[in-house]
Amino acid sequence: TWTPAKFADMTIASLKEEIGDDKVVLGLSGGVDSTVAATLLHQAIGKNLYCIFVNNGLLRKNEFESVLDQYKHMGLNVKGVDASDYFLDKLAGVSDPEKKRKIIGNAFIDIFDQEAGDITNVTYLAQGTIYPDVIESVSVNGPSATIKSHHNVGGLPDFMKLKIVEPLRMLFKDEVRRVGAELGIDAKLLGRHPFPGPGLAIRILGDITKEKVRVIQEVDAVFIQALRDWDLYEKVWQAGAILLPIDSVGVMGDERTYEKVVALRAVESTDGMTADWVDLPYKFLQTVSNTIINKVKGVNRVVYDISSKPPATIEWE
Ligand code: XMP
Repeated sequence: TWTPAKFADMTIASLKEEIGDDKVVLGLSGGVDSTVAATLLHQAIGKNLYCIFVNNGLLRKNEFESVLDQYKHMGLNVKGVDASDYFLDKLAGVSDPEKKRKIIGNAFIDIFDQEAGDITNVTYLAQGTIYPDVIESVSVNGPSATIKSHHNVGGLPDFMKLKIVEPLRMLFKDEVRRVGAELGIDAKLLGRHPFPGPGLAIRILGDITKEKVRVIQEVDAVFIQALRDWDLYEKVWQAGAILLPIDSVGVMGDERTYEKVVALRAVESTDGMTADWVDLPYKFLQTVSNTIINKVKGVNRVVYDISSKPPATIEWE
């Protein structure tokens, strides 16, 4: 029978055998899959695993710093690259969701190629690909998916000429989590909600500016923290906030305001293919709404998305 312990032992042994003294580069996303893949490789080859964690400027509030810290504590050989300005410059003025995705995918490849190119004599590219990614052409996972979906665009970047190693390609998500737990990875990290590769770019409807990123990061942080405080985080498969491209009238003291509307989204799902909106308690929604409107400058209205998938999608873009 399959056990996480046996899987980990066998995989580490065979990675050691296959890779020997060669060097491997891997893109960390902060998500479960790339983290578990990195940990297996780290246990197999130690410092010969070079991890790259890119800040695209579209992560959750403080996520880049806190996740990078966590990776360092885990002993991973990781380089954090803050490329926020590079991504946001390329996205300036772009509203079309698919164009945003393409720009972000290509920008990631530019940065990753440059960073991987700085490591001498790399032989392998490791990816956190899991079984559902293998059987579906469209994957929902961070950098690895970005790389795959851009295979055919233009000339191949140098790192794509590397040999591929995908230690999780036979596993489902729950198995990946169990292997991660077996390897001693923090339960909070393993239990994190999925987060799309293009990040907050597809939760800011319309064009993206630094100010809009700040607003939605603040709103999202209030919402996610409240889910944790109310013991609801684990009951929800994925949650986040969406910045709508409209202003609405409000009143603050004696003043009329004309500010942004945000939508909150929380869904139950097993694989993201179908999803139901979560029946969050009214008291919870009331508290979160009050906190957002009082604390986040530029927002005067909060709505809750009560659409299920299908026909709505989880993301709004
Ligand atoms: P939808 O919006 O299609 O989302 O119902 C289903 C799941 O996929 C995630 N998602 C993405 N993940 N790149 C990703 O890595 C993307 O472009 C992307 N678009 C959607 C979404 O967050 C949800 O978990």
